[in-house]
Amino acid sequence: MSKLRIAIQKSGRLNEDSMAILKDIGIYIDNGKDQLKASAKGFPVEVFYLRNGDIPQYLKDGVVDAAIIGENVLIENGNGIKIAEKLGFSSCRVCIAIPKSAKYSGVQDLEGKRIATSYPNTVQDYLDKKGVKAELHIINGSVEIAPSIGLADVICDIVSSGSTLFKNNLKEVETILKSEAVLAVSPKLSEEKQAILDRILFRIQSVLKGRE
Ligand code: PRP
Ligand code: MG
Repeated sequence: MSKLRIAIQKSGRLNEDSMAILKDIGIYIDNGKDQLKASAKGFPVEVFYLRNGDIPQYLKDGVVDAAIIGENVLIENGNGIKIAEKLGFSSCRVCIAIPKSAKYSGVQDLEGKRIATSYPNTVQDYLDKKGVKAELHIINGSVEIAPSIGLADVICDIVSSGSTLFKNNLKEVETILKSEAVLAVSPKLSEEKQAILDRILFRIQSVLKGRE
């Protein structure tokens, strides 16, 4: 019998909550994060520990069947990938932030600015809609440091508690989108695997009801 391949974040903020929900629905994985792949006990599921940014492509290619991932990552890079269920944890927002001391009167102030971000498609879409032209600098992490080292004037990144912005003397000026963890599904799912997924979805829905 084939197994449903589920990707979760290898390390980072989604990892713990993703492991927790798998456990709550009765999918027990016996090894830790050291191994990149693990089989569940008593359920036809394999779990793959992957980098966030790689997951959308794996879903598109059908290399993995499903994934627990931030909705924002799909919006950035996940055309055609369906969301089977919103999971209600790891809420965050994608925001534009500027140095605390800078003046800001509206989105037109971003015209001509250098914006550091890990979410270029999301930012570009937003700027296009607002009719603003800016220069994007793509960096993969520690985005909030960019203004203080002179790499950019503005940043666009995920905000959860707001503590990273605060510690880096930045203030949030625009919210581009809101996000939470979702169960995303490959467009190439076979019927056999769809049946396994349906069983998982049923369990997830019960667990989410219980958490309400
Ligand atoms: C994430 C994100 C923000 C921060 C937001 O970074 O990129 O920087 O968390 O969370 P907060 O509002 O609760 O402070 P992460 O710590 O995962 O590191 P990275 O950007 O270097 O990947
Ligand atoms: Mg960060």
